[in-house]
Amino acid sequence: MNPVPNILSLKKVPRHVAVIMDGNGRWAKERGLPRIEGHKEGAQSVRALLRAAKKANIEYLTVYAFSTENWKRPPQEIKGLMQLLVDSLNAYEQELHDNRIRLRVMGQFDRLPPPVRKRLQKTIDATAHYAGHTFIVALSYGARTEIAEAARQIAEKAKAGELDPATIDERTVAEHLYLPDVPDPELMIRTSGELRLSNFMLWQLSYAEFHIADTYWPDFREEQFFQALEAFSARDRRYGATKETEGANHG
Ligand code: IPE
Ligand code: IPE
Ligand code: MG
Repeated sequence: MNPVPNILSLKKVPRHVAVIMDGNGRWAKERGLPRIEGHKEGAQSVRALLRAAKKANIEYLTVYAFSTENWKRPPQEIKGLMQLLVDSLNAYEQELHDNRIRLRVMGQFDRLPPPVRKRLQKTIDATAHYAGHTFIVALSYGARTEIAEAARQIAEKAKAGELDPATIDERTVAEHLYLPDVPDPELMIRTSGELRLSNFMLWQLSYAEFHIADTYWPDFREEQFFQALEAFSARDRRYGATKETEGANHG
């Protein structure tokens, strides 16, 4: 087995890490358990990841918890996931305060059941003043919807004469996404060995490094996370430039 990397010796650590937490269902199936048990164990991995990210001094941690496509799952599973979200907030809110971590949500907030919205809003408000570390949960999130909504807002502003269409550029689009003040993730991790984005942060991940872990999400803990950070640290990021011009014109 690989030794656990020493987090303090890493050459570079990303400011923002985004994670596609996948494999809860398969983890449960392998054990002959209902899928919800996989989601419950996965919630423990989220807790471990929050601690590990704080240790590594990562400023932004985003987790994909529920996609716009996940509404197609059986109502019983959706209900279980929403309940688990509320239970997790009840259990972890103190930890967010202890570590001064701000909670934010990204996605179609209005589509979530009202009691879930209310519970989320309480913690969002209670942690809004923490500045150093942010934990973003993508809920009813889909990147195509996000980009389409940005396009609609931009068109409405143009129609109202608040914006000249000739001035629309990448920045305009970025400024109309869900969390315009959050820097793009430099590292995207997906668990369970799946090689796809599943509609996750299509715009923001344009230049991110991808790390695919074979581990199912419930088994992805600090050790696996630090291995991902170590792999990132060894990557050579060029942004389309050559070795000589690297770092000169990043967008
Ligand atoms: C990820 O695990 C959690 C959510 C998408 C909510 P899955 O539920 O997708 O687990 P698999 O992919 O079926 O194993
Ligand atoms: C992506 O996982 C969504 C989340 C992790 C919330 P899925 O399991 O839903 O994605 P697919 O079905 O494998 O593309
Ligand atoms: Mg899955």
